[in-house]
This record gives sequence, C-alpha cells and structure tokens, in this order.
Amino acid sequence: MIAFVFSQQLYRVKIQIMNKKIAVLPGDGIGPEVIQEAVKVLDAVAKKFHHTFEYKTAKIGAAAIDTVGNPYPQETHDICLWSDAILFGAIGDPKYDNNPSAKVRPEQGLLAMRSTLGLYANIRPIKSYNSLLDASPLKPEIVKDVDFVVVRELISGIYFGSPRGRSEDGKHAFDTCEYHADEILRITEKAFQYARNRKKKVTLLDKANVLATSRLWREVVSGYAAQNPDITYEANFIDSAAMHMIQRPNQYDVILTGNMFGDIISDEASVITGTLGLLPSASIGEKAALYEPIHGSYPQAKGKNIANPMATILSAAMMLEYSFGWLDEAKTIEAAVEKALEQNIVTEDIKQGKYGTNEVGDAIIQFILD
Ligand code: IPM
Ligand code: MG
Repeated sequence: MIAFVFSQQLYRVKIQIMNKKIAVLPGDGIGPEVIQEAVKVLDAVAKKFHHTFEYKTAKIGAAAIDTVGNPYPQETHDICLWSDAILFGAIGDPKYDNNPSAKVRPEQGLLAMRSTLGLYANIRPIKSYNSLLDASPLKPEIVKDVDFVVVRELISGIYFGSPRGRSEDGKHAFDTCEYHADEILRITEKAFQYARNRKKKVTLLDKANVLATSRLWREVVSGYAAQNPDITYEANFIDSAAMHMIQRPNQYDVILTGNMFGDIISDEASVITGTLGLLPSASIGEKAALYEPIHGSYPQAKGKNIANPMATILSAAMMLEYSFGWLDEAKTIEAAVEKALEQNIVTEDIKQGKYGTNEVGDAIIQFILD
C-alpha cells in the first residue's frame, strides 16, 4: 500500500515536470511572423502529447533598441534565465546597416545574449530532403542523402577577442582572434558526443597552415581524438573544405570549427538544401539553450506573409529533442514538415511556392494533429 501511494506521488511529480517554460524572443524583421507559426506548432504538440508550455515574450535586437535603448535588456536576460529553453526569431534592421553613427547595433544583442548565457556550442544540421533535390543549384546526385551537422564554437575567437577597435586617426582597425585550450576542449567534447550518435566521424576545419589559434585547435582536438578512437577524426583546411563541401558534401558527418569559420561555412552549406528557410539551429551552454532559424531578419519580406516558417518550426523540434528529450514529439514535427514539402505546401523561396507563412504553419499543424 505504501509503495502504491509512493509511486502515485512520483507519477504526479512527473506530470508537473512536463510543464516547460519557454522564453519567446521574436526579434526583428520576419522574426515575429515565423515565431508565431512555431508557437502554434508547439501548442499543437502540447495538445497531442498532453504537455503544457508557459511562454514569456521578450524584446531583443532593433525592437529592444527602439523601446529601451539596449539590444539585450536585463529583463530579456532574466526571462532567458527563467526559461527551460529559448525560442528566438531573427535580429537585424537595415536602418542600422551603413549607419556609422549608430552607437549600438541590433547584432550586439545576439552576441551579448550568446556570451552572457554561455551558449558555446552552435549546432547546425544540414540535411537534404528528397522532395527538394531539384531546388538546390547543385546537381541532385551531389545533394542526395546529405546529412551532416556543423558544430561551431560560438562565444570566443575573433568575434570576442580583445583588443579590438580603431586608432585615433581612424586609419587603423584591428580585431583579435584568441582561443584558450579549455574553450576548444569543451566544444570538441560536444562534437564527439554528436558523432557518437551519428556516423562516428569528426572533421575539424581550420587554417593551421597560417594561424596560431588553429594550431592550438589541432593540438587539442587531435589529443582528444587519440583518446576516443571509436570516432574517425580528420582535419582539413577551411579554404579547401569550402570547395569540397560543394563537390562532395556526402563525406561529412560532424564538422567541428571555430566561430568565424563556422559562420561562413554554415551559410555555404545552406545552398545544399536549396533554401536557408529550412535550416534550424541550437545554441547550447551550461546554463541555457537557445533555438533559432539560421536565416536572418529578411527585412524586405517583413509583414508580407511570405517568409518560410519551417526553419523556426524545425528549431522548435530541436528544442523538444535536445532540451526536453522528447524524441517522439520532435519526430512528429519533422514528419509534418516533410509532408508539407512533399505536398508543395511551401512559401515562395521553395520552387516558387504559392503559400503564405501562416498557411504553411496551419498545414503543418494539421499534419501533426491528424
Ligand atoms: C549567425 C549570424 C550572426 C553571426 C550575426 C547576426 C551576428 O550571421 O548566427 O550566423 O555572425 O554569428
Ligand atoms: Mg551567419
């Protein structure tokens, strides 16, 4: 009898844990529109699988500069810390580009958030969809069955090194690329962990023929690889990899790389899928995890109901899998997105699709609930 009561209590505790707190940061441009669809999808998953989500919305980027003068306000930071996971839209507004007098830029909000939350591991999966093989500018036989993930170091390297700035006369500018061995090691551990659940191969991309930081990367990563012989390890130079990625994208499983190289190579990798509008990402740290589409704020499309919500919806699926361990729920979203792709219920970035942002979201929800 006691055992029975005890297990019933455990059951109740378990039910409570299913209530997850999500910080919703729509940001700028098309951010609010794609986030709205992702939240609708999360609500559909909650309904189907009997979960509950508690959302708190916060400002970031230009939207935050315009209202409180800070691209990453304290209140937003507090909401991020309160949450179990963060869903983020996009950042950036053209009124700050080519405006040298702007003291603060929206992108600083994203960098500040990554850095203060310690989101050191950026995970960007690149996968080709059979129904979209002809949407890529690459030949279908090159694109077919591509399935790799870029693991990018996110809070160090040239993005954050010091000193940085300008000389007094404005004629000399400088940035510093720096890495510490422990920063390299923690992202290496993450990359090997991912490889272990995949095709068991890690490729380090660097510029070790020129840069001291890259030589430190090689030292740390090859040392770790020697202790983890279950994973095949190789190191390539980033410039030749930029070429090979287009020629033979199938050779990759897990790409491990630093902040700047990862930024560039992941945009290049998006060409394989045929559209940036499909690529999700996760940024993981010790204290927080953030999920966001790879695409930017696409200001030209703002308010037109033409932005592809799939990357954000797939980012929400990554949240369910990575932060909450809900594999079935994540797979359900992915299957619904694939179904929409197969039935051509897509926005204009994919084969001149005729559907609006909200119609694509509605169709995906329908497939989830069916
Ligand atoms: C990305 C973006 C950001 C970056 C910008 C918006 C600061 O390009 O997430 O890839 O450079 O990291
Ligand atoms: Mg980028």
